[in-house]
Amino acid sequence: MARLDVTEMFHGISFPGHLHTQDSLQLALKFPFQDSDILIVSYPKSGTTWMQEIVSLISNKGDPHLAQNVPNWARSPWLEQYYFAAVLETSPSTPRVITTHLPHHLLGPALHDSTTKVIYVSRNPKDVIVSFYHFHKMANFLPEADSFPEFFNQFLEGTLSYGSWFDHVKGWTNQTAALDKLLHVTYEEMSLDLHGAIKKVSSFLECPLVEDEVNTCVKHCSFSSMKHNNMVNYTLIPQEIMDHSKGSFMRKGKIGDWKNMLTEEQNQSFDKVYKSKMQDCTLEFVWEEQNEEERHVSEQATIKKDS
Ligand code: A3P
Repeated sequence: MARLDVTEMFHGISFPGHLHTQDSLQLALKFPFQDSDILIVSYPKSGTTWMQEIVSLISNKGDPHLAQNVPNWARSPWLEQYYFAAVLETSPSTPRVITTHLPHHLLGPALHDSTTKVIYVSRNPKDVIVSFYHFHKMANFLPEADSFPEFFNQFLEGTLSYGSWFDHVKGWTNQTAALDKLLHVTYEEMSLDLHGAIKKVSSFLECPLVEDEVNTCVKHCSFSSMKHNNMVNYTLIPQEIMDHSKGSFMRKGKIGDWKNMLTEEQNQSFDKVYKSKMQDCTLEFVWEEQNEEERHVSEQATIKKDS
């Protein structure tokens, strides 16, 4: 199934036809989740692959054997992709780990009667735009992204593949009260304190780790380990589908790269749209890399607040 130029419109959102069909999308909405399932949810480029790796390592108490021998899409397959059922059947992960980019207004009903553990991963949207733009250049199953200003506007309008970032984040994070098994983790949290993020996820998954096991997880899901691991860096995907001469999936792995791409004007118009669309949302993002001194000040403020 190539269908590299096909786009599937589903409930007003476009999905790449190379990976999705109307049937696979429809089936996803009716998926019978089991209480023991772990569901990783994200808008693209928010740190999905990173969380897949973290969950995989935690479930294996830090043992990297599976992570180094089985591709991430087989360990934690995508619910809405056409090969999902076949891959899930042979997936080595116990409990089952499933990944999705679907928004809450579409997938919420399928989760209603289960206590599936949902991990929602979000990232500073300015960094998401930049990462997604670069990904469009290498991923031949996504529409051509000609100019950054055009792409930037499409992001704000919510017309890119997988829909609106704003609706996605609001939809899922507003569920923290309704879905008692939902953990929200940010890319920035993982970046600033990977050790702490792993402990938070392992505790949510009720999979306690001893300190050595946490340290092994940290080691194997660092950016440099993952960049060199063929099971997660997508180099196993043929060139005609992902053109590795045009970029790497594990590109920079940094907070605040948007500063190298957005103009001051784009930054201001982004802030304006963000303010109006997210006014009913209490989330706080780390918008840029802090230097040592700033980090120290904010850590002190957190310590004071907690004591
Ligand atoms: P960049 O393009 O900014 O480098 P997703 O998996 O949701 O598609 O997200 C991909 C982004 O997560 C890419 O961002 C990628 O480099 C980053 N990423 C993946 N693993 C990471 C890790 N271990 N540490 C930091 N960033 C990571």
